[in-house]
Amino acid sequence: MDKSLIIANWKMNPETLAEAKALLNSVQNDLTGLEKTEVVFCSPFIFLDSLAHLIVEPFQLGSQNVFYEERGAFTGEISPVMLKKIGCQYVIIGHSERKQYLGEADELINKKVLAALKNGLKPILCLGEKDKDASGVSDILKTQLEKGLTGVDAKRAKNLIITYEPVWAISTSENAAACQPDDALVAGLFIRKILAKLFGRRRAEKIPILYGGSVDSKNAASYIKEAQLNGLLVGNASLKAKEFVRIIKSLS
Ligand code: PGA
Repeated sequence: MDKSLIIANWKMNPETLAEAKALLNSVQNDLTGLEKTEVVFCSPFIFLDSLAHLIVEPFQLGSQNVFYEERGAFTGEISPVMLKKIGCQYVIIGHSERKQYLGEADELINKKVLAALKNGLKPILCLGEKDKDASGVSDILKTQLEKGLTGVDAKRAKNLIITYEPVWAISTSENAAACQPDDALVAGLFIRKILAKLFGRRRAEKIPILYGGSVDSKNAASYIKEAQLNGLLVGNASLKAKEFVRIIKSLS
């Protein structure tokens, strides 16, 4: 993969459309001539339509969730068809905060992945162990991958993105600390091995594997250069335009 993929996960921020537009514009204006990175802004649903009118190539738009049905009586849900029509290319699926606070389980996550792929959205599937000292991390990752990707057609696998995001490393977790690049390297290699089993080695090599959890401008490059991953999922630091720009610049 010649380009790193950087996903800004704004979570439930900012509070107003004016702030969302200002954040997007500020990052876009500071990053002209991007060659080595692709940047995707995953904003709350309510800002997507307005941001779609502001965003310029090569920046892209994503959402933080999607429902698995395409249309119908599903109060409060947003379909993959709606997201595609509004101009989204990507969707984060299975983030640990949705598992923790909304009880999302692997079966639901799998339905969302399948629906996203069917409708031409690129799912960013999040995986990761909860506790820093968890034993059997590889079993946890293997189960999350196999269940989350059940029924995914090998041909569609090229549109997948996988994020290794240990829950303990997310900046809002108690005693959060970014994962060591060496550990992210091991997790990334293991994920690639499972993907190869599921889709064949050649297809697996084309699937970007990202790291997420307390990424900042000081550690960002280590996940690409040392851990040999293909990009980053950035939460908190993506809300500070200057810091987010520094992260992206540190990769080139
Ligand atoms: P963080 O969040 O960068 O603030 O740790 C990452 C995420 O939860 O996606």
